[in-house]
Amino acid sequence: MGIITNLTRMWLTRSARRFVFTGEYDQKLPFGGCRNLGLYIHIPFCASICNFCPYCKVPYSEQLCSRYIDALIREIHMVGRQTAEKKVVTSLYFGGGSPALAAGRIREIICAVSEHFIITEGIGVELHPDNVTPAILRVLKDAGVTKISIGIQSFQKKYQKELGRAAVDVSAMASALHTAAFETVSMDFIFALPGQTFDDLRADIALAFENGANHIAVYPFIDFAFTSSAVRTMPAKEKRQLLDALTAYCEAKGYTRTSIWTFSKGQNARYSSMTRDNFLGFGCSATTLLRGQFKINTFSVEEYCRRIDAMQLPTSLTLRFTRRQRMVYYLFWTAYSTKVATADFEAFFHVPLKKMYGMELRFAKWLGFVTEHDGVYCMTPKGAFYYHYYENFYTLSYIDKMWGIMRAEAFPGRIEL
Ligand SMILES: C[S@@+](CC[C@H](N)C(=O)[O-])C[C@H]1O[C@@H](n2cnc3c(N)ncnc32)[C@H](O)[C@@H]1O
Ligand code: SF4
Repeated sequence: MGIITNLTRMWLTRSARRFVFTGEYDQKLPFGGCRNLGLYIHIPFCASICNFCPYCKVPYSEQLCSRYIDALIREIHMVGRQTAEKKVVTSLYFGGGSPALAAGRIREIICAVSEHFIITEGIGVELHPDNVTPAILRVLKDAGVTKISIGIQSFQKKYQKELGRAAVDVSAMASALHTAAFETVSMDFIFALPGQTFDDLRADIALAFENGANHIAVYPFIDFAFTSSAVRTMPAKEKRQLLDALTAYCEAKGYTRTSIWTFSKGQNARYSSMTRDNFLGFGCSATTLLRGQFKINTFSVEEYCRRIDAMQLPTSLTLRFTRRQRMVYYLFWTAYSTKVATADFEAFFHVPLKKMYGMELRFAKWLGFVTEHDGVYCMTPKGAFYYHYYENFYTLSYIDKMWGIMRAEAFPGRIEL
């Protein structure tokens, strides 16, 4: 597995240099000149822990949560104060964990952010189905939240059981959703669970759109090495059949593909914290992507609070990009939206995309992975499948290794990928 990602990295970066993450970090982050900057806030608390979940999370405790949110607000000010004027940003996303466990403090966090940033494309919050109540939705809406994403995983009891989750009460959720209008109501599903058929998935998607969603995210199940999940992965051939059937179904229904895994009903529904040129991440495990660097905060809630108490940023590791590494990073995450515009690449790197990756793009066209219209490369369904296939390798060779280490050590010092 590592061989594929290593060879691809060497080919695309034209160098044998690995991605080297070290413990040194900037206390002042160079984000002032970044265009298309997004914000992400991580709230790592969950009422109960799901054993398939790779994200940074801990069981909820009122006292720890309150200490953490105090530290989080201080981190936002520490970074936000670094620009003289308020910085215009695209969106703000809260992820977790289950951010609604801190619903009572979301307004305070948004106020802290608004002291330094002007949010132009809305605020999103990830919700556990148990958090979809009229009271919580009201608090979020009053705080300025415009998009929500609910982690359904499956409406069917057998798969919820397989994942160790309780069944979702669909009618209670639907009536709660009627009490507060959001621009985007997204629902997350996991597909390629053992035995799952297209009919199962189609029923889930139909139920989502009938019960308040205008956007869905359908993620392939990933078996992370450091999780204790007993769920088996589906063989690649079956997975491809499911993905193809799912894509064809959503397209026939007139849903718009907004990224590799997401579809929307209606043009305005969008929910993605990933496809942005640059972003600042706050909270433990949050990542920050800037022109020259990618950095990750510590995964330890304790150490996170301790660093903030010492008036230091909670950065655990920083990767300083070579120019080609940054291009690969840009292309990989932009391709996630299924489209890469040559003009955007050129505006970011001041060099034509064709000059840097002309041969690769011709090859991708020849293989039927992309089509090109007016300088925009669009991924075909075949391209989307292979992107997914490669992303799986990337996730298992890079993210799995890195998160595995970071969960075990607050400040690992150095990681090479
Ligand atoms: C932070 S979690 C969800 C938010 C909320 N805490 C919940 O559980 O409903 C974000 C999403 O990641 C997806 N996810 C989690 N573990 C996954 C795995 N092992 N493979 C694929 N997707 C996964 C799920 O669809 C989940 O809704
Ligand atoms: S899936 Fe959601 S509720 Fe479950 S552990 Fe992960 S973040 Fe927490």
